[in-house]
Amino acid sequence: MQIFTQINDIQTSLGFLKKEIHTIGFVPTMGALHAGHLSLIEKAQTENDIVVCSIFVNPVQFNNKEDFDKYPVQDDVDIALLKKNGCDVLFIPSVKEMYPETPNESFSFGQLENVMEGSFRPGHFNGVAIVVKKLFEIIKPDKAYFGEKDFQQLMIIQALVRQLNFDIEIVPCPIIREADGLAMSSRNVRLTLHQRAIAPQIYALLKHCVEHAAIASVAEVKEEFITKFSAFPEFKLDYFEIADENSLQPISSWKDSKSPRAFAAIFMDNVRLIDNMKIFCNFAKS
Ligand code: PAF
Repeated sequence: MQIFTQINDIQTSLGFLKKEIHTIGFVPTMGALHAGHLSLIEKAQTENDIVVCSIFVNPVQFNNKEDFDKYPVQDDVDIALLKKNGCDVLFIPSVKEMYPETPNESFSFGQLENVMEGSFRPGHFNGVAIVVKKLFEIIKPDKAYFGEKDFQQLMIIQALVRQLNFDIEIVPCPIIREADGLAMSSRNVRLTLHQRAIAPQIYALLKHCVEHAAIASVAEVKEEFITKFSAFPEFKLDYFEIADENSLQPISSWKDSKSPRAFAAIFMDNVRLIDNMKIFCNFAKS
């Protein structure tokens, strides 16, 4: 695996490689890698000639300084994992290399950014768009891989690619869960043992609600989630929403969407976890 820290160096090297290969698959990450990231790399490997990964904890996408300061960093472990799991080229720049000056670009994603993560984490998606645009310009991938755990981010990145006419295919990849159902996340390592034992309830409650959707209205499903959720004092709910998975707009009746999805964001102390689940059913109630 080749490792680059400088933009010029990786661009020169990929420029030469591009003469010999057809496709570059790109997996951008913020490090603290887990099996979810490795599943993206595995998919990228099967669909491309080479796989490029990046590790960059992007300061401009954090709306909370403590979350940024405490974001897990384990570069040596990550580099060893990437070497073993099919990454051909790693880009691991410093903040100064990526942002010699504070970036001030401003993006607009309309209704996609005004709900859920967008309303609870102001500026977050603008920061994601800034870094993803820059990484796409540096790496020039043919395909880029993003997990559905950050479902709203995936939709924003698809919108970014359309807005900027990037010739890049965005490949959505399914959520990878621990054996007990907890969605894999770099932030899971920050949970205490007790919190980690309770955290799979997020999955269990989402699953219960999604199943309940077959016989309940949207309002009843939401009420059920909030009631069951409040039995756990360890959780603080940011939001539970049922929204159309394309427009991301909340729905009030099953008739409002052909493809509804349930979304939740939860704090356990200062660790924020998100999860989502597609709702498949023939609804008995509207
Ligand atoms: O999902 C992430 O890890 C980050 O938001 C991303 C896409 C690497 C941008 O920093």
